[in-house]
Amino acid sequence: MRPFRIHVPASSANIGPGFDSLGLALGLYLTLDVATAETREVVQCSPHLPEMPTGEDHYIFQIADQTAARWHKELPPCKVTLQSDIPLARGLGSSASAIVAGIELANQLCKLSLSPEDKLTFGNEIEGHPDNIAPSIFGGLMITTIAAGSVDWIQMPGVDADVVVFIPDQDLKTAAARKVLPTTYSRELATAGSSVSNVFVASLLSGNYPMAGKMMENDLFHEPYRSDLIPNYNEIRRHAKENGAYGTVISGAGPTMISLFPQGEADAIVPQLQRTFPAYDIKRVAVDSKGVNTTWG
Ligand code: HSE
Repeated sequence: MRPFRIHVPASSANIGPGFDSLGLALGLYLTLDVATAETREVVQCSPHLPEMPTGEDHYIFQIADQTAARWHKELPPCKVTLQSDIPLARGLGSSASAIVAGIELANQLCKLSLSPEDKLTFGNEIEGHPDNIAPSIFGGLMITTIAAGSVDWIQMPGVDADVVVFIPDQDLKTAAARKVLPTTYSRELATAGSSVSNVFVASLLSGNYPMAGKMMENDLFHEPYRSDLIPNYNEIRRHAKENGAYGTVISGAGPTMISLFPQGEADAIVPQLQRTFPAYDIKRVAVDSKGVNTTWG
């Protein structure tokens, strides 16, 4: 087998009002270098990777095994060297990236010829929502909906804005951030919340970024319930707005916050934001437009 490399982008889900539906692929990557080996082995080369067994039971092998089994194949042994610039449990889709990596590993090793739709359907079954899985597979801004277990989607190649992330040095587990959400919403709230989301997507499509930023900050489905879990939620929003941001929201389930700024302006503003929030890693990140991709050595 020729060695190969799998690159999977990070992602930011929800973007405010698109709870469990919208996700943007970001230019931070989980990278797997895969080579032939007698037994399974994982070498982890990054502080951003969780401590876990480096053999048979590694999470990425578990996903790859499930994928192979679903398509009636068995995963051959290999050595995987992992690198990552996606911080864990920060709301940047690290678990979806690992799931997509495991699916793609099986796809290549077992020659499954999976379509992006196959990967999305299976990844969504594992993660339970498609808004991180979809951008990690397709790249760009993914707008998704699920009906009867199948995911329908539209891809926008990207956004005409600079993306800035505020990454704190503490984590927040998605399960904990989902627990604080209501189990049901009234018709009144659902109508208002989905109308905000409609106007948000329409604003992006028509290039009306000031309106998109306003709608980002008007979510009714999750931000009002989660804001207390997010350190400096109001301060970051206010400060970003004072410095020209269109809008600032929780990235996924948090605790990272993400802002959209007018294109070309973020690099001049980031140093000032960093001085104001020194405990954060604040940076402009590119939008990834390719999604998961495999290159052969
Ligand atoms: N839509 C999910 C949530 C994303 O907000 O819980 C988790 O990354």
